[in-house]
Amino acid sequence: MTSPSTNLSLVDTDPAELAVDAIVIGLHSQTGDQAGAGGPAAAALLLASGAESIAAAFDGKLTETLALLGATGGPGEVVKLATLGTVTAPVIAAVGLGPEPAGAAPAPETLRRAAGAAVRALAGASRVALALPLPDDADAPVALRAVAEGALLGGYRFAGYKTRPQPGRRQPVAEVLVAVPDAGDAAAAAEVARARAVTDAVRRTRDWVNTAPNELRPPAFADAVATAAREAGLDVEVLDETALREGGYGGIVAVGQGSEAPPRLVRISYTPAGGGTGKRVALVGKGITFDTGGISIKPAQGMWEMKSDMAGAAAVAAAMLAVATLKPDVAVTAYVPMAENMPSGTSYRPGDVITMFDGKRVEVLNTDAEGRMILADAIARACADGCDYLFETSTLTGGQVVALGKRVAGVMGSAELCERVREAGDAVGEPAWPMPLPDDVRKGMDSDVADISQVNAGMDRAGHMLQGGVFLREFVTDDVAWAHIDIAGPSYHSGEATGYWTKGGTGVPVRTLLHLIEDVATNG
Ligand code: BES
Ligand code: MN
Ligand code: ZN
Repeated sequence: MTSPSTNLSLVDTDPAELAVDAIVIGLHSQTGDQAGAGGPAAAALLLASGAESIAAAFDGKLTETLALLGATGGPGEVVKLATLGTVTAPVIAAVGLGPEPAGAAPAPETLRRAAGAAVRALAGASRVALALPLPDDADAPVALRAVAEGALLGGYRFAGYKTRPQPGRRQPVAEVLVAVPDAGDAAAAAEVARARAVTDAVRRTRDWVNTAPNELRPPAFADAVATAAREAGLDVEVLDETALREGGYGGIVAVGQGSEAPPRLVRISYTPAGGGTGKRVALVGKGITFDTGGISIKPAQGMWEMKSDMAGAAAVAAAMLAVATLKPDVAVTAYVPMAENMPSGTSYRPGDVITMFDGKRVEVLNTDAEGRMILADAIARACADGCDYLFETSTLTGGQVVALGKRVAGVMGSAELCERVREAGDAVGEPAWPMPLPDDVRKGMDSDVADISQVNAGMDRAGHMLQGGVFLREFVTDDVAWAHIDIAGPSYHSGEATGYWTKGGTGVPVRTLLHLIEDVATNG
């Protein structure tokens, strides 16, 4: 299932003369000092660059009109007004950008969110032009990339399952034109192509996360991922339940054994044409297609959101599809373990001791800590195959949400790589923050009977995001630089749409992973 996507192209004609359904311009709010105390409301508003010709068509009355309509220029705000023949387009939509940064263009994430909010607010229009502030200097590519990504993601809508047409439900914008200084510029065209590949991967992730869990049990999810990856020209190998049992993947088998829908491990490889830098990147993503908690069952309230417990798997698989398009000069292999965590007569249970892929024995204390069981096997397999960098991402712990909230992912692993993940997240607008792996947390996971307990031996929940990281570290070989990115919060948005996020799957951390892969391809 793939939702229809927005078309995006560049224009360099005067926005005032564009035959489109609406023109989007940027609007800054000004601080008290800038506006001058007691001045008219319009003095508190400042049109962003890109809107000059539109402003001229309004005889300098545009900010005043927007102020009368209640515009404040605050981030995310969209105020529409009819142009009544002043410019060719019948509607102007002014999107808030917040205060103008002193002497600089707005931050890329500000532009990305504004483009997303504007395109969302204009649903129902078929052709829309964005005349947003784009710098004409070295920052131009990054700004254009942000605007294109925001617009394409703001145009996302999950197809859903409604059986009747929804009268009054406005269709996402079909076509977006972005006003740039030179529409024929090859570098600009390359940014648009890149934004297309990246946002296609984000949209694919959102679609998989938003799909109902009865439609995306492990065999179906594995088929969907394998089909898409093969179509993209990638090498794919799918291990079914028999292969997993015979291969010694004890963690994946244990979690999967409670469900009638058996587990899978999908391995997807990309080999660069030029042989690459010699570095090998491994990606691992948690693919629990539904997490009931198993025998340690979860409460009913909110359990439906556990359909998103495969967000890490979706992100990793979709990132591979973008890798196939972007063709970075580095080898990348994804390992995607998939299982459904169900309570039944065949479920694994608290007290079980499981022999993992690398031979280590794990004492299960809580079947709801299932993610680390399937991830440990996938990580160990990635290390056995050989890799230099390993990025693993998972909706691993509610503790991540408690510690860092719904926007910021938690990162644990090799210090240098964690810092690189933080920087990548910062660059793409998917914030991530490094967290420690303390010795005392590992000590608390000593098992009386096995090599390690799956969680704290006394089931103490203190620092339980860190327990996840400490557990996974046991399965990474010493020669591998690794990072575990806990996305329990940021991978799923339960609130109303905001910026380029719609309700449901967000696609985090696809853009971070792609930035990291390109970083490794360029800098080693
Ligand atoms: N999938 C959950 C974590 C989760 C919680 C993701 C909320 C998204 C939102 C994970 O499998 C889980 O159940 N974790 C337990 C860990 C505990 C048993 C150590 C948790 O968070 O309570
Ligand atoms: Mn769980
Ligand atoms: Zn889970």
